[in-house]
Order: sequence, then structure tokens, then C-alpha cells
Amino acid sequence: MRKNGLVISIDGTAGTGKSSVGKAVAQKLGYGFLSTGELYRALAYKVFETHTEPEDGAAVLALSKRLRFTFERQPDAVLKMFVDGEYLGAKLHLEETGNVASKVSTHKEARAVLTEKMRQAGAEGGIIMEGRDIGTVVFPDADVKIYMTASAEERAKRRVKQLRENGENPDYEHILALIKERDYRDSHRAASPLKPAQGAIIIDTSTLNLEQVIALVLEKISHYGA
Ligand code: DC
Repeated sequence: MRKNGLVISIDGTAGTGKSSVGKAVAQKLGYGFLSTGELYRALAYKVFETHTEPEDGAAVLALSKRLRFTFERQPDAVLKMFVDGEYLGAKLHLEETGNVASKVSTHKEARAVLTEKMRQAGAEGGIIMEGRDIGTVVFPDADVKIYMTASAEERAKRRVKQLRENGENPDYEHILALIKERDYRDSHRAASPLKPAQGAIIIDTSTLNLEQVIALVLEKISHYGA
């Protein structure tokens, strides 16, 4: 085991509850939690801010190399991320930032740069890292690997509910189309496509609530001496 405990990876499509589950489980274990989409979202934000074309691999790579990431563990387990010393906050969670993130994350070389940052953040263990390729590429030697899935329709319903709670008035069909588009791109890209890691524990959350998934994950992890 690493100095601070296990490395636990949670991969899967957007909207399966990976972040809520990972954060809650990390709190129970006294571990840190990192949502690695944040790094891709930060890169996307900088791409947008500097008027870089998301399709321009060389420019995206150059940008990725310039970014300095630092993390501060919060009382709720989350590793709060700063980019060049700045907390980017809600800007990273706009629907549009997610879509550009999905585009910039197709570039292999830029992925390698961000992957290295993620490895540094998790090197000492005691961490749950959530993303698309944590168990397959970032930490192929993770102690426990979890892969979460749910139907696109169920995820669209959850997203619509979440947006309504934020006072927005989303269109279900539009959200469903965006989810399917992003799934397709994330799982068909040449560089580190989304797929379950070998030996991953696969959990379908379509018919489970958050508490049930958290309980299931904690039960699985208990066999690994966390
Ligand atoms: O999980 P998220 O929605 O914050 O991720 C945003 C995008 O970043 C997602 O569409 C794909 C990409 N991503 C990735 O390629 N690899 C990761 N480990 C995490 C995110």
C-alpha cells in the first residue's frame, strides 16, 4: 500500500453519479477525492479564453504545458483545484465547458501532460480519483477499480432535474442528445477511450439511488483493507 492508503479509481460516463459517490466514499474513508474532468475542463476554459481552436492539437498541447495545477484538500474530502493559483469555480461547470473539454480531451499529447499531473496528485495514495481512464491509463495499478454506468435516458432525467433545481428550464431531448454525443466521442476517440479497466467492478446505477450505490461501493472496498 502507498503511504496514505489505497488508490481507488472510478470511471464511467458523465451523469452516472461518479462524483457524488466518490466524494461520499472518500469522506467515509478519510481519503481525498479528485474529479479529473476538472483538469480537462480547466484546459477547455483556457482554450476558450485564449481563442484557441479546440481542434488545434499543437496549440492545445502548448497550453496544457503552461498550466500549473495545485490542489488543496477540503474538509469534505474534495481536492480543490487551482490553475496558476486561481480557483476557476463555477466557470468549469457550464454545459459548454464540458463539451469543449470533451473535444480537447481527444488530443493524445495533451492527455499525456494532464495524466502526469493526475499521477502526481495521487502518488501517495489515500485517494479516490474519478474520470474516464483512471483505471485503464492514469493508474493501471490502482488497488480498487470501479466502473459506473447508467442508461443515457436515466442520466438525461437526472441532469434535467439538477438544472431545474438550479433555476434553469432545460429541454429533455436536447440534454439527451448532448449526453449521447458526448458518450460517443468519449468512447470512440483513439486516445484512451472510455471503457472498463481489466478487473473493474461494474456497477449499473440506473435503478439504484445514491445511498445504495455508496453502500455497494463501501462493501466492495472493504475487501481490500481500506
Ligand atoms: O467528468 P467531466 O464531465 O467533468 O469530464 C469532462 C470531459 O473531460 C469529458 O467529456 C471527457 C474528459 N475526461 C477525460 O477524457 N478523461 C478523464 N479522466 C476525465 C475527463
